[in-house]
Amino acid sequence: MIDKELTTRFEAYLKDLMGKNDNSVYDAMNYSLSAGGKRIRPYLAMLACRALGGKAEDVFPFATAIEMVHTYSLIHDDLPAMDNDDLRRGKPTSHKVYGEAMAILAGDALLTEAFSVIAESDLSADKKIRAAGALSKRAGAKGMVLGQALDMKGSESLDGLLLMYERKTSDLLAAALSMGAIAAGGKGDEFDTFAKYTGIAFQVMDDILDVTSSEEKLGKNINSDGKNDKITSLSFMTMEDAKNMLEDYTARAVDSLAFLGDKDKELKELAYFLMKRDY
Ligand code: IPE
Ligand code: IPE
Ligand code: MG
Ligand code: MG
Ligand code: MG
Repeated sequence: MIDKELTTRFEAYLKDLMGKNDNSVYDAMNYSLSAGGKRIRPYLAMLACRALGGKAEDVFPFATAIEMVHTYSLIHDDLPAMDNDDLRRGKPTSHKVYGEAMAILAGDALLTEAFSVIAESDLSADKKIRAAGALSKRAGAKGMVLGQALDMKGSESLDGLLLMYERKTSDLLAAALSMGAIAAGGKGDEFDTFAKYTGIAFQVMDDILDVTSSEEKLGKNINSDGKNDKITSLSFMTMEDAKNMLEDYTARAVDSLAFLGDKDKELKELAYFLMKRDY
């Protein structure tokens, strides 16, 4: 499942990199970054890199960048103007601790600094430019931000909802995988289908956990979607159908890894782990 030794090394790298800076903005950035996320996106970047013959360490700067962008998206997602949640990663949300203005700014800074981490890394100029391009494309107005905008509006059909999930959730997974592939010398689009299906399945599970899990387990507010009258996968299907869909989409994701031959093992395991997660 998750290679603990590898993620521990990544945590140390991240802590060291972020610890080099010290001011009130970094305090707020580090509060959310170090609160204890699952680090799925960094891990995806590492596994994609390894699957294409690279070393997981090579992608640490890109893995840091994707985790910074993801963390910014969560800080802003929790703001009163969006989902208005007060618990994240087992701790009070950024705006509860630092106030709304600083939470907005911590998010802005995480997004901006992510590109600085890429630019200042030791990878080749070609890889850095392509990684920055992949991340900005997937995180921006055609990607995650568009997904969040569509989420605020609400979807009228299941097809519309799935497209919105592809933007708000699959796209950041795609960025992670793409940067991992680029670090290994790949083209960058090798895992796009895997990202699409894994991301939709991930978001359907997120919807399920919102109504079935506990705040202790999830580290975030439960029944957040209900509180906000959010349209989720469970607005269009029963719990049983949602679980079936989760399995179906995970199977499609795993099938898309066939091109890797026997190098598909780690990503496959992660996809199954995400399908069964309870946090
Ligand atoms: C939460 O992502 C946001 C969604 C896309 C559903 P994660 O469940 O990966 O959050 P962390 O990083 O573990 O906190
Ligand atoms: C995903 O949706 C959020 C982002 C893409 C930032 P949610 O709003 O469902 O995520 P959680 O449940 O708050 O983590
Ligand atoms: Mg949201
Ligand atoms: Mg939310
Ligand atoms: Mg949710």
